[in-house]
Amino acid sequence: MKMTLNINRKEHEVDIKGHETLLEVLRDQLGMTGTKTSCNESECGACTVIIGKKATLSCITLVANVAGEEVTTIEGLAKGEELHPVQQAFLDNGAAQCGFCIPGMIMSCTALLNNNPNPTQEEMEYALDGNICRCTGYLKIFEAIRDAGGRLSEMEAPKESTFYRHTPETVSSKS
Ligand code: FES
Ligand code: FES
Repeated sequence: MKMTLNINRKEHEVDIKGHETLLEVLRDQLGMTGTKTSCNESECGACTVIIGKKATLSCITLVANVAGEEVTTIEGLAKGEELHPVQQAFLDNGAAQCGFCIPGMIMSCTALLNNNPNPTQEEMEYALDGNICRCTGYLKIFEAIRDAGGRLSEMEAPKESTFYRHTPETVSSKS
C-alpha cells in the first residue's frame, strides 16, 4: 500500500506492506538514518522523533498511524548550515560523547523547550526519563538544555508543544 508521509515539511511516498514502524520506514525506505535504532522496544529513546508537537518513540509507532501527521526528525532541525539552537547548545556545552543517543536526546529536548523554554531540573529529568545515555552522566546535557532554552526564549519559538511518552495506541503489534 502506498502512503504519503509528511516528514520535515516535505511529502514522501512510501510503500507499506504490513506493520512497519515509523523507525523502519525512516531508516530503510527513506535513508533518514539520523534517527537511531537501539533497543527497538521503547526502552532507550534513541529513536525519538517529534510527531505533531510531541516527542514520540518511532520504534513503537506504526507508520500507518502517522498518516496526515507532521513528523520531524533530527534531519529536519537545522536550516541548511545553521544548526537548530538545541543542536548548537549541545555542541557548545560538550553534551555529546559517542553521540549515539544524541539525536533522540535532542528531539526530546526540542519538544520540551518548545513548550517550556525555562524548565526546572525536575521537568528536564522527566522529559529525558526515557532517553538513556551511557556516556555523559547527563550533567552536560542539562546544561545544554538550559542554554538552548535561553536561546529559544530570544527567538520567536513555537508556542505549543507537549512532551509525552508512548501510549498504548502507538505500540507496534510486531513480535
Ligand atoms: S530504539 Fe530504543 S526506544 Fe526506540
Ligand atoms: S553520548 Fe554516548 S550514549 Fe549518550
